Amino acid sequence: MPAFKVTQLHPALGAEVAGVDLARPLDAPTREGLSHALAEHLALVFRDQSLTPAQYLAAASVFGPPMEQHYSQHNMPDFPLIGLIWHQNGQQPAEQWHTDHTNRERPPAATILYGVEIPSAGGGTSVASMRAAYDALPTEERRRLEGLTTFNSLDSGRTDTRQEDHAKYGRPIEHPMVRTHPVHGSKAVYFHISKATHIGGMTPVDSQAYMRDLLERMIRPEIVYHHAWRKGDVLVIDDRATMHRAHGDYDRRERRVLWRIIVEGDRPRL
Ligand SMILES: [Fe+2]
Repeated sequence: MPAFKVTQLHPALGAEVAGVDLARPLDAPTREGLSHALAEHLALVFRDQSLTPAQYLAAASVFGPPMEQHYSQHNMPDFPLIGLIWHQNGQQPAEQWHTDHTNRERPPAATILYGVEIPSAGGGTSVASMRAAYDALPTEERRRLEGLTTFNSLDSGRTDTRQEDHAKYGRPIEHPMVRTHPVHGSKAVYFHISKATHIGGMTPVDSQAYMRDLLERMIRPEIVYHHAWRKGDVLVIDDRATMHRAHGDYDRRERRVLWRIIVEGDRPRL
């Protein structure tokens, strides 16, 4: 039996894991137990961690192989598989609901964030269960979504994307709008409103309107866990069945630095 304790943080999703020091090598039962806990709870919080970049990468690999991130201008120079989230040098908080890197054939199974510098108030991260969102939709709409796919590329609105990242990550990738979780077996709604250029068979304008309407109807407080950061927190987000967003509601004279790792997952399937 893995030697850690899981405490639920919100009725729909989110759990705190106690008794795991991510700086140390983790044995096979612990790794297996954490993978299952993530599939079950969709967001895991580890408190009071103290990690070097190398230790952090080793811990993240519990959830899958760390993968390259686009927007490479924000990657840590010596550890390019770690992206720096800080709202400086033109980087803006990702305040729109989304799941990460849908422009990849095998998008991330999880996004992992480590709180290195935390502002005194605000600047949280919210995570919504798209499993619960799917379950709450009317039957006809679930059937409709199961027949739809999105075509994904890099965000069209960004002006700071490097040419090399465009060339590597900009070609269209098709994904189902409902995907089955490879570990949990349940279904979840899956799309990224600003990476999807369109939904198959729909105009870009109609696609955007439908996705916006879906987000407005689906995301309610009952399915959202809000993470208020403490320094040393590691938050693991299951990208296969959630969406997340940042909150820019903090004093920008204070620093907010998160280290991000994404780990590769399966190709999404209905
Ligand atoms: Fe994100």
